[in-house]
Amino acid sequence: MKHVIQSIRATFESELHLCKQANDLEALRVRYLGKKGLVQEQLKSLRDVPEAEKPLVGKLINELKKEIEERLDAAISACSHLQLQDKMAKEALDVTLPGRRSNVGSKHPVTQMLDEITDIFVSMGFSVALGPEIESEYYNFDVLNISPDHPARDMQDTFYVAPGMVLRTHTSNSQGRVMENANPPIRIICPGRVFRNETIDASHHVFFHQVEGLYVDENVSMQDLLSTLSEFVRRLFKKDVEVRLRSSYFPFVEPGVELDMSCLLCEGKGCATCKHTGWIEVLGAGMVHPQVLRNVGLDPEKYTGYAWGLGVERMVALRSGIRDIRLFAENDMRFLSQFYAV
Ligand code: DAH
Repeated sequence: MKHVIQSIRATFESELHLCKQANDLEALRVRYLGKKGLVQEQLKSLRDVPEAEKPLVGKLINELKKEIEERLDAAISACSHLQLQDKMAKEALDVTLPGRRSNVGSKHPVTQMLDEITDIFVSMGFSVALGPEIESEYYNFDVLNISPDHPARDMQDTFYVAPGMVLRTHTSNSQGRVMENANPPIRIICPGRVFRNETIDASHHVFFHQVEGLYVDENVSMQDLLSTLSEFVRRLFKKDVEVRLRSSYFPFVEPGVELDMSCLLCEGKGCATCKHTGWIEVLGAGMVHPQVLRNVGLDPEKYTGYAWGLGVERMVALRSGIRDIRLFAENDMRFLSQFYAV
């Protein structure tokens, strides 16, 4: 019996040395100390030991059991200590490493321009009135004196989304909505996206942005239009440019004009950018047509007003020399990152 105990002890020792991880140690514990384990087996076979030897053999088995328990406990704690060290080594952070730089985003150049234009007009006392992008023919056309047979209604220019409903072709659609519901003085700008059913090329796109402006009150004159818009152009282009009005036609204004500024590059002398005219076209404007005032219930004998509409992509292009408006819709980071505001 003593030999058997001795040999169990020896095999345990050699098996213990082979254990590499906590799982192995657990398996060893089951094999030696489990209910059907080797030690238990010895305790059972104590029955067959002669009475006189029982105390001694019993003692030896208990000692073996205790010893195995102690050895296993020690091995398990050594093992978990090692595992912890291993884990700490793997997850160690080098707090002296320099941080990772993340890219800073920026507003799209069209949004930056919209913000700038808005700021200038807000500082002059205009407020912002946003209109819907999906609009009725009434507000996009009828109220603005654009008769049903006007070429601007042609299916080629306008996206129809349902009978009588269009994607607004200009931000002028806000004019009627605002004038119907407010009493003069009315001083609003309407920035936003507009849609045209065009073939896309360097100077045409199916969507772009405009800022509409409207000022209606008693005694509003063409002089007010000219002084407000020239101040705007000078502030936007940060240059003391010359401004002129050229006669033009828009159904919702009378007279209609186009506002030009002296060429930013040649300052009026004539160059390729201004097609040797010395002037650059900036926006369309005019005095609100009496019929438009009547359509929204305002008395044209009492009130007058002016309105204008400008293309936002065009303003960015004029300031930065971009020749292809498709670039504004493509979201190419190589293009956009050149407009990062510092
Ligand atoms: N709605 C015109 C367009 O899309 C721009 C415009 C011209 C607006 C003259 C006006 C204006 O308010 O008076 O081309």
